[in-house]
Amino acid sequence: MINVRDVTYTYMTGTPFEKTALKNISFDVSEGEILAIAGHTGSGKSTLIQIVAGLIDLTSGSVEIDGLPVADKKIRRLVGIVFQYPEHQLFEETVERDIAFAPKNFGLSDDEISARVNEAMRQVGLDASLKNVSPFELSGGQRRRAAIAGILAMKPKYLILDEPTAGLDPKAKENLLREIFGDVKKSGVTIILVSHNMDDIARFADRVIVLAQGEKIFDGRPRELFAREEILQRAGLEPPPITQLMRRLGVDEIVLSLDEAERILLKKN
Ligand SMILES: Nc1ncnc2c1ncn2[C@@H]1O[C@H](COP(=O)(O)OP(=O)(O)O)[C@@H](O)[C@H]1O
Ligand SMILES: [Mg+2]
Repeated sequence: MINVRDVTYTYMTGTPFEKTALKNISFDVSEGEILAIAGHTGSGKSTLIQIVAGLIDLTSGSVEIDGLPVADKKIRRLVGIVFQYPEHQLFEETVERDIAFAPKNFGLSDDEISARVNEAMRQVGLDASLKNVSPFELSGGQRRRAAIAGILAMKPKYLILDEPTAGLDPKAKENLLREIFGDVKKSGVTIILVSHNMDDIARFADRVIVLAQGEKIFDGRPRELFAREEILQRAGLEPPPITQLMRRLGVDEIVLSLDEAERILLKKN
């Protein structure tokens, strides 16, 4: 369980560039939940997840993970965070060594490390034949997968992903999300997904928190969010295309996916 209480955070306090990025944010994340954090660029999403991961020191409020303050070193292994454009952090000679980097630092046996590398590659849909390839020979989508696999190989209890599909082509994007949210979720991992893609949120998130100018302005189910015009407008967000289309067709229900839309339309005719 993650407990975030009254977190306020200001960058460059006392300078002319002072910027309050988060204002009084509180929420809990339950085990096994997929929580999305949505909001316009600059709304505070990345600041918030870095605070949750213990990468930015708190100045006011508190974050506890499984009952321990986030500053406690014991939580380091519990939380895995994948930054935006994580492939920029690949640096080893081979894909295998890159993915093995964190587990090696945990002091695990070679067998355990090797098993974790194989499992992580499978989870992100990277073919085992790529193990001995240099990360620089991979395609953009494969590099992204390798970087995410490196975090999965830590076997974090809490997985935080900051815009994991940003900049990928539509095909690579679709498969990557399916993999992360199918296989990884089955293993019971709790996921915090930062995204401004409402379609991804509609399909994968159990719950969504919306930030606008550092404030939490919504916390609930995606289906509830897409019924709240005023919230969406304030946050500068739009419901997924399929949700908008079904509304234009006069369907009262909030529709989240093509499958749901198909079911409703077939019933009507
Ligand atoms: N290192 C930093 N120094 C100063 N201001 C920052 C820094 N990082 C982010 N900010 C500011 O804090 C606000 C929130 O940024 P961020 O958390 O990156 O938002 P998001 O991830 O939603 O785009 C923005 O106004 C941004 O300009
Ligand atoms: Mg960001």
